[in-house]
Amino acid sequence: MTEAAPTLSLTRPDDWHLHLRDGPTLAAVAPDTARRFGRAIVMPNLLPPVTTTAQALAYRERVLAAVPAGLSFEPLMALYLTDETTPAEILRARASGAVAAVKLYPAGATTHSDAGVTDLARTHGALAAMAETGLPLLIHGEVTDPQVDIFDRERVFLERSLLPLIERFPRLKVVLEHVSTREGVARVQDGPERLAATLTPHHLLLSRNAMFAGGLRPHHFCLPVAKREEDRLALVEAATSGHPRFFLGTDSAPHPRRRKESASAPGGIYTAHAAIELYAEVFEQAGALDRLEAFASFHGPDFYGLPRNRERVTLVREPWTVPASLAMGEEELVPFRAGERVAWKLAG
Ligand code: DOR
Ligand code: ZN
Repeated sequence: MTEAAPTLSLTRPDDWHLHLRDGPTLAAVAPDTARRFGRAIVMPNLLPPVTTTAQALAYRERVLAAVPAGLSFEPLMALYLTDETTPAEILRARASGAVAAVKLYPAGATTHSDAGVTDLARTHGALAAMAETGLPLLIHGEVTDPQVDIFDRERVFLERSLLPLIERFPRLKVVLEHVSTREGVARVQDGPERLAATLTPHHLLLSRNAMFAGGLRPHHFCLPVAKREEDRLALVEAATSGHPRFFLGTDSAPHPRRRKESASAPGGIYTAHAAIELYAEVFEQAGALDRLEAFASFHGPDFYGLPRNRERVTLVREPWTVPASLAMGEEELVPFRAGERVAWKLAG
């Protein structure tokens, strides 16, 4: 008789940082997230960006329309902060009940960030309104100064922008998204209770070597770019430590294969097809599977002041092979681990 594969039952997790895009891409990718997660913070970097509450509410309806029947998935919308965002818009966003956060992209930092913030000083009115109403600021924490080495952009952001910001707004809740460095982890650990960070599966699983393994590997290119192995180990330690201010945010970011395999590949790694399974691998390798549930399902809602999910999901330790590519409307999408194995499988 063969032994039954080990299983892991968890409170249904949430994804606190997700790119769903729009149109046919949204229709193709939303089911992967809705099968695994109860809620997700949906990033606003569309073209044009989601800068108003009205746009966020309309986008929310399009996301809900892409969720397969029978799944209860709640999109939590994020507003895209610009130099022009007014305090009145922040109050409207809060009052809507559908906007959970505001996202800061320094202009030029990443995909569709051209409309982002050129100078933080211009956003002080909006930030004051956010501190007042309790809307968290989600930060893409990289400087855009071309003089700064791309591997140092997060570290420099911490000193130049993050610290002054959290001092200036003592009541503002801040999430340092997709933290990628040892120093970023330390800033959050040493920071105030209102400062948290999300960790992606790819930053937990890859160091920058993965971008160059056997040739240039565009499907391992994301922003912030993966760092050194010592940074990766610090991220794994933070995720698996049980520290309540580190939580799950995949930053799953679909791009068409045609663009990823072009001469100027955009940053972004698609992980939604195996998101919680990949985190289970990380936690298992660290000998910390018993801490996965808090990281994936408790710390996020606790920080945001939302109830924890009541449903559960089950993972089975049953390796499976990720398809070489997925359909995405008329395009093809190359998922993380394409053609390779993932150790855990979602049951049902
Ligand atoms: O890798 C990334 N992809 N990082 C980002 O900040 C944006 C995202 C995207 O939208 O593709
Ligand atoms: Zn992102």
